[in-house]
Amino acid sequence: MTQTCHDSISHRAAAIAPSSTLAITARVRAMKAEGRDVIGFGAGEPDFTTPDPISEAAIAALRSGMTKYVPVPGTPEARAAVAAKLQRENGIDCKPEHVIISNGGKFSLYLALQAMINPGDELLMPTPAWVSYKPMTELAGGTFVEIPTTAESLFLATPEQFEAAITSRTRVVILNSPSNPCGTMYDPDTIRGICDVLARHEHVTLISDEIYDRLVYGGRTHLSPGSLDSMKDRTITINGMSKTFAATGWRVGYAASPGNDGAVVKAMAKLQSQMTSSVTSFTLPALVTALESCQAEVADMRAAFERRSALMYELLSTWPGVTCPPPMGAFYVFPDISCTFGRTSPGGSEIENAGTFAEALLEETGAAVVPGDDFLGCGPNHIRLSFALSDQAIEDGCARIGDWIASLS
Ligand SMILES: Cc1ncc(COP(=O)(O)O)c(C=O)c1O
Repeated sequence: MTQTCHDSISHRAAAIAPSSTLAITARVRAMKAEGRDVIGFGAGEPDFTTPDPISEAAIAALRSGMTKYVPVPGTPEARAAVAAKLQRENGIDCKPEHVIISNGGKFSLYLALQAMINPGDELLMPTPAWVSYKPMTELAGGTFVEIPTTAESLFLATPEQFEAAITSRTRVVILNSPSNPCGTMYDPDTIRGICDVLARHEHVTLISDEIYDRLVYGGRTHLSPGSLDSMKDRTITINGMSKTFAATGWRVGYAASPGNDGAVVKAMAKLQSQMTSSVTSFTLPALVTALESCQAEVADMRAAFERRSALMYELLSTWPGVTCPPPMGAFYVFPDISCTFGRTSPGGSEIENAGTFAEALLEETGAAVVPGDDFLGCGPNHIRLSFALSDQAIEDGCARIGDWIASLS
């Protein structure tokens, strides 16, 4: 029997869908290369360049010969800088040896799940949620269990919903606040309430994905579960350089887990030693500079995102029939566009779902958005737009989208 190409691919690889958000980003890049007039609301990355002191630190490290293998979890200096950041900004008590630096927050999450999940275990998470959590859970042999939320509840789950959803098979709970794709976040009291519930279920570990912890608006407070007595020994905190420091291409993320003297981090380091060995050596001094010396740059970028969040919300509120909670953090809005389903676009496309909405919108107006399907839960009624682009692009793009929706028949 001849083996087809498909047969040579593992079941594991065949079962996983590619990242839909990265696919949109690639499509926009290709359309721009063809000279098409595209406004990209799709990418989940800051439009700023990485602040100069961070780049200079990497260049200096390269020039000084820091081009060799470094310790698997990162240099002692970089791990100490992460531990100090977590103590200073998040109130998380952890030692440098409880920190591991990996190739992006994405790989930190992947390693954490590989280190904790056995086949048959369940991972519980409110949805809509970022596209990679479910495939990563399944790659670890686990089952992704949703707590579906609604726009009315700002896409947030209550402590009672967690209590009702936890079973004897629940191994990991993930919280992502502020949220990608929802742009909303938990208030400190709800975080405390959820942690009180989790604390009663001793077999459950919490992963707190805090990659957007510095991007919060309206004077809101971000509370790290790892700072609470109730869950500090059973929380793995994930963060990284990508969003806070406009450094998505650097691929630097980290995880911290002080419980049981860093047992999870040690397991993650063992896995990392057989996979990537470490992050790129000369990014580590740059991470130290970012965490210790770039507060002013971070404050400026946050202020720009806050201004754009207000502009974006004001403009999308004029789109006929579309509803959306106001953005609270990260750089996303997640409007409900189901009012357009069953209608026809000026170019003759039938809008059946968020996918056909996004497809026709891109073709007919050049505005790129992400259909919400892969974010699960009520996601299929929504699209995600990033407001990490210039004020002018936000104004032009929102006008194109609003006019297009108004012209649907
Ligand atoms: C919620 C969330 N977690 C983690 C990541 C991973 O980011 P990175 O791997 O660039 O650090 C992202 C990136 O989009 C994200 O939105």
